[in-house]
Amino acid sequence: MSMRRRNLLKALGVLGCASIPGRWLPALAAAPAADRVADDYCAVNSGSRPLFVPAGDGWFGRLAPDGAPLTLRASPIAGTVGPWTQGFAVEHRGARFVNPTLILKPGEPVRIDLENALQEPTIVHWHGLTVDTRNDGAATPPIAPGRRYSYTFDVRDRGSMYWYHPHPHGLTAGQAYRGMFGLIEVEDDDERALRAALDLVPGRSEITLILQDRRGAVYDATDFDRLHGWFGDAIHVNGAVCSHLDVATRIYRFRVLNASNARTYRLGLRSADGKAMAFTLLGTDDGLLAGPRRCNEAFVASAERIDILVDLSDAAVGDTVLLETRAFDPMHMEMAAPAAAIDHAAMDHMTAPPSAESRTPAMPDHAAMGHGGSFPEGGLRTLLQLRVRERIAYRATIPQRLSTIAPIDTANAMERPLRLGFAKGRWRINDRVFAMGETPIEVKRDSVETWLIRNYFNSMPHAMHLHGFHFQVLERQTSPDQIAALKVDERGRLATDLGWKDTVLVWPGESVKIAIDFALPFAGEQTYMFHCHNLEHEDGGMMLGVKVT
Ligand code: C2O
Ligand code: CU
Ligand code: CU
Repeated sequence: MSMRRRNLLKALGVLGCASIPGRWLPALAAAPAADRVADDYCAVNSGSRPLFVPAGDGWFGRLAPDGAPLTLRASPIAGTVGPWTQGFAVEHRGARFVNPTLILKPGEPVRIDLENALQEPTIVHWHGLTVDTRNDGAATPPIAPGRRYSYTFDVRDRGSMYWYHPHPHGLTAGQAYRGMFGLIEVEDDDERALRAALDLVPGRSEITLILQDRRGAVYDATDFDRLHGWFGDAIHVNGAVCSHLDVATRIYRFRVLNASNARTYRLGLRSADGKAMAFTLLGTDDGLLAGPRRCNEAFVASAERIDILVDLSDAAVGDTVLLETRAFDPMHMEMAAPAAAIDHAAMDHMTAPPSAESRTPAMPDHAAMGHGGSFPEGGLRTLLQLRVRERIAYRATIPQRLSTIAPIDTANAMERPLRLGFAKGRWRINDRVFAMGETPIEVKRDSVETWLIRNYFNSMPHAMHLHGFHFQVLERQTSPDQIAALKVDERGRLATDLGWKDTVLVWPGESVKIAIDFALPFAGEQTYMFHCHNLEHEDGGMMLGVKVT
């Protein structure tokens, strides 16, 4: 069967995500080729440079410390390949790295010294890793220029792609944007089994994709950016726009990190003739799902990760498959609401989706406001070309069981309401903004809580992240149509909600209920952060301390 035929079948097959094996859903919408914009500068045939793929040194080079100490030198980086001007320089066994991808195993001790060679304070946070407060980076004061900070912890997390980035309150967004972040891969038995079953080799058939939208090297957020988030008009994948990857007729794994300050992507694949093509969702933020899901697309917000397979084994040499971000309503609805009109009491009566009349016009004219150049959030853009160059003999079956995910027992859980809103010029959680040393959320060690995170209608999507714990999404209520269309169960969840998560996007008008088990392996009180991972919102104070007593 030709790939076009096959793609067509796949396109008809799914709108959201289906379990495998399973019945395809009937076609509910046409493939989104028709709304392709004229300025999609990365459409077929225009991609020219090979995708940057991390190697054994250099930017994002793969480094397995195996218990050996490392020094991360936060510093300006001159003359680099990518768009970045700062990074974590590391020397290890004669090789030089910037932002090394740390390859770790469960149980392994990690010893890392951070050295601050910047002109401003910094501190590193290990996003998704279960560490104590001292090692978490966020509740301790950042270190001054010239100072060092020692991290010592054991790897306690399951296999996944985590990441690290600065967390000095108020300075996080600029430092991350300038390039100060790297990946962490924890390899466990589930990981090894998957790689063995599909013959996946990191750097060859397993490729990391780091998405970041950019608008120049300098981070100079305006008030407008601080309200909405910093959006760029060029979407970089591994540090460049419009790259291509030469591929063979086999299955590829892509591990995707959204490292953008604020932008959400609606990722999907299409063939050169515009047909949507399915991919297989393997995992989310904190590791593999129980089993694979067939998906047509997935939303990925700031700091979220997805782990996917793209099956090119029936493709023809000469075919091109495109990774794209599809059009969606970014729902920056706060534009329509003067701050004074926001009424949190109304949220307590929020039981039904907003009526059509109560919905404000969707897309504010960002360009007219001098915001983010010409590419507002929710725009359609081709991100990467996969060019089939070689036919090889490859036969492999995707395992039906990837991992085991035991549901958190919520029988005795206390429910904690958390409201996301905007007042007096600031984004807030339960009407509060961050203050260092304050912990408005106090939880009991070893307790299970459910958190009902409710986002006001006249709001924006907020990518809510919790430090120190992985959580499970139990339910989504009153989701906007573009999200409800992708739900995979009667609790309104998306396929990307089915694994362990540390960040969850909550849309305007939506309520998301999550379960958290506050069992902790560390003695004594511990403090973590709960915040929006839109980095401008985080720096602006949309963050609360969480004390575990
Ligand atoms: Cu990825 Cu508090 O952050
Ligand atoms: Cu984090
Ligand atoms: Cu936010």
